[in-house]
Amino acid sequence: MTRDEILSTYTDISIIEHPFVKHKLTSLRDKNTSTREFRMLVEELGTLIGYEATRDLETVDTEVETPLETTLSPVLKGKKLCIVTIMRAGNGLAEGVLKLSPSARVGHVGMYRDPDTKQPVEYYLKMPHSINERTIIVVDPMLATGNSAIAAISKMKDMGAQDIRFICLFAAPEGIEAFKKAHPDVPMFIGAIDRELDDHAYIRPGVGDAGDRIYGTR
Ligand code: URA
Repeated sequence: MTRDEILSTYTDISIIEHPFVKHKLTSLRDKNTSTREFRMLVEELGTLIGYEATRDLETVDTEVETPLETTLSPVLKGKKLCIVTIMRAGNGLAEGVLKLSPSARVGHVGMYRDPDTKQPVEYYLKMPHSINERTIIVVDPMLATGNSAIAAISKMKDMGAQDIRFICLFAAPEGIEAFKKAHPDVPMFIGAIDRELDDHAYIRPGVGDAGDRIYGTR
């Protein structure tokens, strides 16, 4: 499917068209961007896209005393957010979302791809309590096949999560299609939809291996 076909077929997909987001995504693509800069950009993009992904959070008016008078003013309602990072590349993005909500809880999901079945296998899971009462923001910079994100979100749902959103920087059309077929109810906030997945499940043109570029590994 093309980008336009994806956007006309599935609902609840937001492409963050802000010029700062576009500019920073281009810097990520550049193979000459250093590890330090790449990591900073991923974090900044986590904040910018996280801002859009949390636009509809509920607030409640509370009484506050200014130096001059008492007034009613809104604060966030309900339990603290929960950011769920799909390790390891998700950790960089999670740091950026945490800038918006430093007291958010953070869940970690570790997945690897079974070389035979090609399916994600969970090797680590640590979540805060009461995830059924929290807004859950699952983060992974690259949505390639979508298998890890789909499996992580299925796990969150099994654990009782009711309000889940997903953030990524780059998505392949194939990954979005698989994601929306599995989880049509989960809103997606995406930096850019790229052309395609290649035979090694890399997003093209993409950025290469996001985890390696964030952490300077190979
Ligand atoms: N994961 C990455 O880091 N890059 C891709 O292109 C696909 C998956």
